[in-house]
Amino acid sequence: MDPQNVSIRDFTGRQLSALLHSLGMTENTVKSVGLLADTLGPGGLQPVSTRPEWPSGVADDHTPVEFSTAFAAGEPPVVRMIVEPTATRPSRSANTAAALAALDRMRHRENLDTGRFDAVRSLFLPDDPESDFTFWYSLVFRPDEAPAVKVYFNPEVRGKAAAEDLVRQGLERTGFAAGFPVLRDHAMTRPGLDRYSFFALDLVEQEQARVKVYISHHAAEVSDVTRAASAARGVDVDRVPDFCLLTGGNTGTFDKRPLISSYTFLQGDAGVPSGYSLYVPIRDYVTDDEEARRRVLAVMAKYDLDPTQFDNALRAITRRPLDEGVGLIAHVSLRMGRPRPGVTVYLSSEAYDVASPRSISLAV
Ligand code: TRP
Repeated sequence: MDPQNVSIRDFTGRQLSALLHSLGMTENTVKSVGLLADTLGPGGLQPVSTRPEWPSGVADDHTPVEFSTAFAAGEPPVVRMIVEPTATRPSRSANTAAALAALDRMRHRENLDTGRFDAVRSLFLPDDPESDFTFWYSLVFRPDEAPAVKVYFNPEVRGKAAAEDLVRQGLERTGFAAGFPVLRDHAMTRPGLDRYSFFALDLVEQEQARVKVYISHHAAEVSDVTRAASAARGVDVDRVPDFCLLTGGNTGTFDKRPLISSYTFLQGDAGVPSGYSLYVPIRDYVTDDEEARRRVLAVMAKYDLDPTQFDNALRAITRRPLDEGVGLIAHVSLRMGRPRPGVTVYLSSEAYDVASPRSISLAV
């Protein structure tokens, strides 16, 4: 095949197929790759050799896809992807239309429950969005299960000033009104620096569906995220400084891309969320991906996770030497609370571009 003509769809489809195989998920690969192709929308036919027509915020090089692998002790790994659907001629409204068309097709095939989605869509899908990001999907692949689908909305889609109200109403409409003050008091304490970044929903029946709120903490100290973590049930906050040190390499201020908190609400949670995850944008705090890999391995060792699975996943996604770029490993997250802690690693497709390693500073 002519490498110049490979489409985003085929490029990322091959990566998905390799990733699933590398983690032992050899059943249903063709179907999984088909679901990805469908979710990408018609914009997925664009060749990787041209400049991206839409500046997707999913990944630094604007690839509308990002992979992740979630690990927990004693459980098989889970493969996930974030996908931004795009139209043939991308625009905010055309992309939202492409995303909704994909939802219509999935609704029939995948047996999705869109009850909560329907309850909040009028909040998060205005006719005239104020941001490029309006609607992303997450696709979740587990061995021997049908893929699960999640939707991400943008709390700032009606402007920054409206974000708090959108999250408050979103929680109200999904049955978690009492969670709002808990998040505000623990995670939104630094005006202008703590920001609502995603509102996410599982498209499965209500008893199992999670609602997740993500908050990014700009220029945060470890104590800021420790306080944020303490809002959720069953979180051992002592793990937070340690995770920041192992992945970020410091325990001072995280002044590049922000640390991010996510809160998980499950049916039955009154005010207090059932789960908390901390995301470290590791790519901003390392020289290259070999350094990032070593830090991830240190975290995995600490949580008794199998390092070979992670190395296999890395090798499936990329062909380049790890020290020849930075950003393949984009974020690392630590999941706390029910049912058990886990580590998730976010892996870039790099379909369009590889960022050069940062030079080591020669400060004297
Ligand atoms: N690329 C964006 C960012 O880095 C959005 C994003 C993609 C993200 N994957 C993520 C944010 C995982 C947090 C965690 O912010």
